[in-house]
Amino acid sequence: MTALTLSTAAAPGLRADAIVIGVAKGAKGPVVAPGAEAVDKAYDGRLADVLDTLGAAGAEGELTKLPSPAGFKAPLVVAVGLGAEPEKDASYDAETLRRAAGVAARALAGTKKAAFALPVADADAVGAVGEGVLLGAYSFDAYKENGKDAKNGRSPLAEASLLGGKPRDAAHKAALARATAVSEELNRARDLINMPPNDLNPAQFAAIAQTAAKEHGLKVQVLDEKALAKGGYGGILGVGGGSAAAPRLVKLSYTNSKATKHLAFVGKGITYDSGGISLKPAGHNETMKCDMSGAAAVFAAVVAAARLGLEVNVTGWLALAENMPSGAAVRPGDVLRMYSGKTVEVLNTDAEGRLVLADALWAASAEKPDAIVDVATLTGAMVLALGNRTMGVMANDDAFRTTVHETAEQVGEPSWPMPLPEHLRKGMDSPTADIANMGERAGGGLVAGLFLREFVGEGITWAHLDIAGPAFNEQGPFGYTPKGGTGSAVRTLVRLAELSADGELA
Ligand code: BES
Ligand code: MN
Ligand code: ZN
Repeated sequence: MTALTLSTAAAPGLRADAIVIGVAKGAKGPVVAPGAEAVDKAYDGRLADVLDTLGAAGAEGELTKLPSPAGFKAPLVVAVGLGAEPEKDASYDAETLRRAAGVAARALAGTKKAAFALPVADADAVGAVGEGVLLGAYSFDAYKENGKDAKNGRSPLAEASLLGGKPRDAAHKAALARATAVSEELNRARDLINMPPNDLNPAQFAAIAQTAAKEHGLKVQVLDEKALAKGGYGGILGVGGGSAAAPRLVKLSYTNSKATKHLAFVGKGITYDSGGISLKPAGHNETMKCDMSGAAAVFAAVVAAARLGLEVNVTGWLALAENMPSGAAVRPGDVLRMYSGKTVEVLNTDAEGRLVLADALWAASAEKPDAIVDVATLTGAMVLALGNRTMGVMANDDAFRTTVHETAEQVGEPSWPMPLPEHLRKGMDSPTADIANMGERAGGGLVAGLFLREFVGEGITWAHLDIAGPAFNEQGPFGYTPKGGTGSAVRTLVRLAELSADGELA
């Protein structure tokens, strides 16, 4: 992972492979952003003209490379577009900086050390640039020759120093430490998502959680198939029954002696979703290793909360199973007795996420946390509704849904509030069981949300994040988002934990 430091070094004498600067779109052409004054000065104050000549406009995501001016130790200047210049006296917003830093960090793969001279007006901006660098530099090369990107033989940027931040300022140091902890854990979530499903089955995921728990002083409890059977976890066992790799329920607990609040995070952890007996057609299953993205996000968020020492108790529940067809698999028509005692008629074995989540939600509810947030790549319907970059937010409490939605937006994770229309509930009425695992096709994402709601304990505040769209990026990289696993929802969960620690959450 890229090493991140704050530096007060002056640009000309910097020993680095490149200096990153910002360029914005001004009213009359490109404008050099604050932070790059020394570079501009070395170009005799003509850097904006030089960039203009090179065709740079300052558009978001734009990248222009130019040779350093005479006297600079670093040979290369990388100008990254910031979009429209902010109004007078306003500063660049965090997400703009995060994305620009990410674009530059990715473009610098193959170089050893870069200095980032972006406009950092305060500690928040330091944190945003730090996150952008660490998230943008990420690359999943574990399965490539020599661990390097096979296409161009490059390794990710090894070192980044942020100029303009103050190494002795407590707020700046804290922002950098936070960015480092959150980004490193988020990148670990990406690694888990990108891992092929033959190397990450439920037991293997659980073992990774156990190792991390030891390292970070978390309590961990793993229920294997025997314990699940003894406990009556019919949903998780039903979904996992078709696989040669048995399911697991992992409970990770972070406790802080000063905590007054308790949050529970529940993640869908289908290590591979073939659809089961209701098999997905070819073309719909190549990316289904990503179906454990919710569990990966919960795992990362709990570890990050521990690393940050947040004054809140956080319990993470990872509902891990592999959804496979076999002679032992659950059939359409089977009835499962869930952990809550309710019975579910399985009409479609591809609606498996809600079955494993139902058991984990009920288990989480037994501890009476102040709130539960579940995260799941739950429905294709949510992808159709909101596209590939926005998660849907549902809840049993309007105010909490608003808070979760606004929190997600604040940390740079696009989300949108979705309703739970009561009339869709009767579509899941079953002639045989208490409820069916499928309802009307229309509003499929909301139907899934309504199903989950039935397994949340009475009186507990709950929100559901459907990340089926943003969890896995099948298109090209953008901003600080790579191809493949994105780590969607990690930053929202961490921020929710921080809000709860500060007494600003339900
Ligand atoms: N894991 C899928 C949802 C999904 C789709 C995630 C696309 C990421 C990208 C989920 O288990 C599923 O198969 N859902 C079904 C539910 C249906 C059978 C009611 C779906 O959305 O089609
Ligand atoms: Mn499915
Ligand atoms: Zn699934």
